[in-house]
Amino acid sequence: MAAKAVLILSKDKIDLEMLFFLISSQSNILLINLTEDFSDEDLSLEVPSIFGLSLSVSNAYDLFLAWIENHVEQSIIIIDKGNFSFKPFLIRNNIFKGNLAVCYQEIKNLLSTLLPSNPPTTACEYVQINISTLEHFGLLENDIYIELKTGRKLKIFSAGDRLTKEDIHRYVQKGIYQLFFKTNEIARTISKIEKNLNDLVKGPSDSNLADQKPDIPVTPKIKTISDIIKEKYIDAPLDFNFPFNIEKLHLYTLKQVAKDILETSMTNELIAQPLLKLANAPSTFQYVKKRIGHMSNILLAISKELEWETKSVIERFVYATLIHDIILFDRLDLLKLQYNQDCETLSAADKSLFLSHPKEAVLIVKDDRFAPPNVDSILLQHHERLDGSGFPEGLNKHKISPYAAAFIMAINFSQYILDFPNWNIKEYLLLIDAEYKGGNFVKPLHALEALCKNKIVS
Ligand SMILES: [Fe+2]
Repeated sequence: MAAKAVLILSKDKIDLEMLFFLISSQSNILLINLTEDFSDEDLSLEVPSIFGLSLSVSNAYDLFLAWIENHVEQSIIIIDKGNFSFKPFLIRNNIFKGNLAVCYQEIKNLLSTLLPSNPPTTACEYVQINISTLEHFGLLENDIYIELKTGRKLKIFSAGDRLTKEDIHRYVQKGIYQLFFKTNEIARTISKIEKNLNDLVKGPSDSNLADQKPDIPVTPKIKTISDIIKEKYIDAPLDFNFPFNIEKLHLYTLKQVAKDILETSMTNELIAQPLLKLANAPSTFQYVKKRIGHMSNILLAISKELEWETKSVIERFVYATLIHDIILFDRLDLLKLQYNQDCETLSAADKSLFLSHPKEAVLIVKDDRFAPPNVDSILLQHHERLDGSGFPEGLNKHKISPYAAAFIMAINFSQYILDFPNWNIKEYLLLIDAEYKGGNFVKPLHALEALCKNKIVS
């Protein structure tokens, strides 16, 4: 007599793979994906098993009939998202239909009742995934990493993710395994990650379970964007106390303003996604984080010197330090470029990305209801130059706003500090004195020179 078995039917191959992944995280039951290569004989197994059949395979109908013949009394689970029109099983009673979440629950019930001969499950490296959460982030309101018990990381991609071959390669190199689902666009890449999926499914037998500590319960970790931003940016705050000594009260203000901006950014995908990306690129992350801290420090010091330091101006500056290069956060090479002529040797795509980033930053602000007022001009003008050689508008020193002028100087100074660890204040003062003469740069230049002479942190 054939062992008890269950058939899962789905129109969507990726739903089926998702369900198999979840089942394999819970049990060692044999999982069999019915494909064109399967024959009738292969269905007569003598061990409990779960079969999956995607209706997208060309011989799905024949495989289905063959399965019925071998397992006439056994249950069928149908993943039905309201688009299921496969009819032959309507005559049967032991059919369960539902979405991915309820199908998963039903299969878990079946595992404990219909398949009692299933050997006890052993520790496996997968964490249990909350399927309702998965359904939720299928809508892409959030992006989630799942850390497996072995330390492997699983990234779930879904609709709207901009994903290239390079992304796939990069994640593989970093040991981050990937699972893709949703949308035709993503489905087209599925063949590229089959190796990953297979590896995940194989994981329990390959992993060295002896290294695990079964007595210590492992809590599944699911990191949301909010968790990562909190951990990387708020719990390990930016250092705002360099290069100038800043009084405690102002330092506190800077930290609070930055914390408020970061907390509201969690709900804005346009800001949260680049912050997340940056947090996952350690060397760039350290550089950018320091630059944001130094720039905020310089801008607050200049503001104090010029008596600009209202809460509103501080908010504007700190926000701008975070946002102005945000679309370059994964391109440190471009992020370090300051002048229009620096991009002459770039590829056309990089040049376009670099030259458009001030306007892109302004677009982010337009969609951010928490953005401080009047921050647009700083973002738009942060690559303008005194002689009109900058971009995007080619404004000169009289047209560049005073706040943007201070911001441009803060970029230059903070980058100088970071790129030349043995920097010398006297040499830097000579540089800025030659570069920032006239127009709306006069006041911030005098302020910066006074600060450099008197209040620099040694
Ligand atoms: Fe920039």
